Amino acid sequence: MFNVVIFGAPGSGKGTQSERIIDHYGLFHISTGDVLRDHIARNTELGVIANKYISQGQLIPDELMIRVLEHHLDNHTKESEKGVIFDGFPRTIAQAKALTELLEKRGTQVDAVVGLEVNEDELVTRILKRGQETGRSDDNLETVKKRLAVYHNQTCPLRQFYIDEKKYHAIDGNGTVDSIFEKIKNNLDKIKHD
Ligand code: AP5
Ligand code: MG
Repeated sequence: MFNVVIFGAPGSGKGTQSERIIDHYGLFHISTGDVLRDHIARNTELGVIANKYISQGQLIPDELMIRVLEHHLDNHTKESEKGVIFDGFPRTIAQAKALTELLEKRGTQVDAVVGLEVNEDELVTRILKRGQETGRSDDNLETVKKRLAVYHNQTCPLRQFYIDEKKYHAIDGNGTVDSIFEKIKNNLDKIKHD
């Protein structure tokens, strides 16, 4: 298996680059944001809880999020045979430790963390543009500011966590989608062939 975490601030291009990575490496995509938005759209019990946090730009509590992730993994073992791209998970040190354990139990590990590093002005521009185009409910200026603050306080420490594990690949996430994917591919190809 080849398991990749795609890491970065809101609007850094995690979903966009995940699509490219999936096409190229045949990985299974798990976006925790998409999983939660699907529950919100279906008005499930989890969706009602998730909506309260997402609309405030806050993280879903670790214990709940980890259970949701584990359940999703277990429901997609066949699709995950070649490996998984984790998009938006982990977002806290507790989630990162849980992911290591979850994968260890399944005889596998995180092989690489792709860190998309993008200027803050560009992040806000991208998110507000998408908000206008798609109406995604947390893509407004007030919530974006909260999402960025949460990213800096709770998620950024993971960068050092994965640097220490020698898994972090910093990618300049400014520029065109194609040029960014080329840089990701250069990094991942080296690990895949080692
Ligand atoms: P989530 O859905 O993960 O949102 P996010 O991290 O805020 O990131 P986005 O999806 O907004 O951005 P992205 O990095 O995927 O960029 P994209 O490719 O879309 O999480 C939403 C919420 O769910 C969280 O706030 C939290 O409440 C909850 N949640 C999720 N996971 C959780 C967890 N693990 N624990 C707790 N809570 C959790 O690109 C953005 C835009 O820019 C798009 O319009 C795209 O077309 C455009 N774009 C992309 N690349 C480029 C480029 N190179 N040039 C120009 N435009 C570009
Ligand atoms: Mg996304």
